Amino acid sequence: MRTPALPMIERVLFSEEQIQERIREVAAQISERYKDGNLKLIAVLKGSVFFLTALARELTIPVKVDFLAISSFSNHSGSPGVVRIAKDLDDSIEGEDVILVEDIVDTGFTARYLMQNLSGRGPNSIALCSMLDRSSRRIVPLQIDFRCFEIPDRFVIGCGLDYKQLYRNLNFLAILKPDSQG
Ligand code: PRP
Repeated sequence: MRTPALPMIERVLFSEEQIQERIREVAAQISERYKDGNLKLIAVLKGSVFFLTALARELTIPVKVDFLAISSFSNHSGSPGVVRIAKDLDDSIEGEDVILVEDIVDTGFTARYLMQNLSGRGPNSIALCSMLDRSSRRIVPLQIDFRCFEIPDRFVIGCGLDYKQLYRNLNFLAILKPDSQG
């Protein structure tokens, strides 16, 4: 799906070319940092898979990949941030250099939970890489080691991010029109 001429789009935030260029830069940083390492990228289903794939293709070092899925929901008092693993990794990460790959970090609950969980499995190192950082929504402090873009506090679609499970396959990042959000 290549055309940005879609009625629900307010404007394109980053073009395909801008995103590819920035991913290439971040991939170069990662390739340099882990050139003597034993790197595994871990993506959180579903949105992050698109970013992981784009990032991995730009790396110049060998890399393994694995995937997990989470469920997040509010607790009884309505507070967000209750996260549990719905599908775990296929393999151990003991002794490996792990990068948790996220498409977006908002409140930080998901990434904080997963970083703590994965740290407890004996990796040699663990880092967080996120395509997008919507830091205006952050609730828990979090260090993002590799980040492509900071974005405004708007609903965005494309590059793995969805609205009602659609539009993940847009190869640009766009702001959804407020009146398209039902
Ligand atoms: C997104 C994203 C992160 C999480 C970030 O996933 O991939 O996992 O939200 O939010 P947080 O910082 O507030 O915890 P989402 O729940 O939209 O699932 P999806 O990737 O399947 O669309």
